[in-house]
Amino acid sequence: MEQTRARAESPTKFLLDETQLPRRWYNIAPDLPSAPQPVLHPGTGQPVGPDDLAPLFPMELIGQEVSEEPEIAIPDEVLDLYSLWRPTPLYRAHRLEQAIGTRSRIFYKYEGVSPPGSHKPNTAVAQAHYNKKEGRTRLATETGAGQWGSALSFACRLIGLECKVYMVRISYEQKPARRSMIKAWGAEIVPSPSEDTESGRAILAEQPDSPGSLGIAISEAVEDAAGRDDTAYSLGSVLNHVLLHQTVIGQEALAQMELAGAFPDVVIGCVGGGSNFAGLAFPFLREKIAGREIDVLACEPAACPTLTRGVFAYDFGDTSKLTPLVPMHTLGHDFVPAPIHAGGLRYHGVAPLISQLVRDGLVRAEAYLQNDVFASAVVFAGSEGILPAPEAAHAIHGALQVAHAADDEGKERTILFNLSGHGHFDLAAYDNYLAGNLEDVALDEDEMSRALHAIEGLPSPA
Ligand SMILES: Cc1ncc(COP(=O)(O)O)c(C=O)c1O
Repeated sequence: MEQTRARAESPTKFLLDETQLPRRWYNIAPDLPSAPQPVLHPGTGQPVGPDDLAPLFPMELIGQEVSEEPEIAIPDEVLDLYSLWRPTPLYRAHRLEQAIGTRSRIFYKYEGVSPPGSHKPNTAVAQAHYNKKEGRTRLATETGAGQWGSALSFACRLIGLECKVYMVRISYEQKPARRSMIKAWGAEIVPSPSEDTESGRAILAEQPDSPGSLGIAISEAVEDAAGRDDTAYSLGSVLNHVLLHQTVIGQEALAQMELAGAFPDVVIGCVGGGSNFAGLAFPFLREKIAGREIDVLACEPAACPTLTRGVFAYDFGDTSKLTPLVPMHTLGHDFVPAPIHAGGLRYHGVAPLISQLVRDGLVRAEAYLQNDVFASAVVFAGSEGILPAPEAAHAIHGALQVAHAADDEGKERTILFNLSGHGHFDLAAYDNYLAGNLEDVALDEDEMSRALHAIEGLPSPA
């Protein structure tokens, strides 16, 4: 009885109903303290224009990429599809707090309730919508962990488009169930590097057993889309419009924190290309830029430490240099990260918007080893019950680090992190961890210097 009463006074879930779904995406670009630097054409060194991007993306998305509007209305069809899983729940992690004995309050926003199991469909349905509206019938994309490929095949199926997915080979092998899910939604899927594109064939000729990387898979998908009029390219992270679509997460979380009568001192997310982190953090950064004190923490793997050890430079978004030059933190476009289990965090770059925020000191970053991350994932699963995706477990680990540090200092903090997806297709990774077979990989200096040679001679950002 005592416990029930205590719970009623301090609920576990903070829920919004469908009428409270955000109607607009939040665009952080006009609020940034320093203007974002332009994306450049690699041939001319000049900023790319809409015509350069038109073979790959629909005009509405190109418009969103460079928009200075503070908010952009969400189309009705997208809202309708969002209502299948949104608004997502916000939890107070009472049991986790007890398990680690912290004085801090920990909250998490749970994006794993979407049909494919992560935050990725927030942009997948929007991208499928605009492509369909502008007459494309097929989308080509890459996927790392399989979450993005699942999300896009789900969105294409519901909206009525064909879909081809190039899945990073190591994940293709580690996660056969993700493949099945992608096929069940009607998409075609091949391991990357593949024989289906010139980029793939060139890499296989040099390294027949390449584990693949997001950079390589992006090259294949871009080449596929550029070669066919009916096909557009769809990217699951990094680009401004992708981050924009994810801001429904943070807008909901702001309303839910208010329901909880709290406001976070610390906002945390894991970063691959940066979309789930941006989705949660950008609406809070709007408050920070307006003067509110918030510590915003980006968590990445030590095997792919783009924000903590990469350089801010112009670089290609893909390995075969088919994309424009993007101003971002990078480890070099031909860097192939070690095959850690957080496949979705194995990307050589990070979104330009996040890179700029790190440069401006509004966001800080930390890098973690995978055994430490899995240890935190298991503590979380053992207290909150949800088995997190290895990517999302980086944010959990970050939250636990912050809580422990606050306890050591005798402080109480309110911590909010994004639980970007569940780990139901990552059980082989958990098996490996539990059997003590996970290798800790921190990127070594020599490999980092080697990989950074790839950006020599490219333009430098201001
Ligand atoms: C569950 C989950 N979280 C996070 C990420 C990282 O991507 P992003 O940084 O774009 O959110 C991925 C990527 O596949 C993912 O599947």
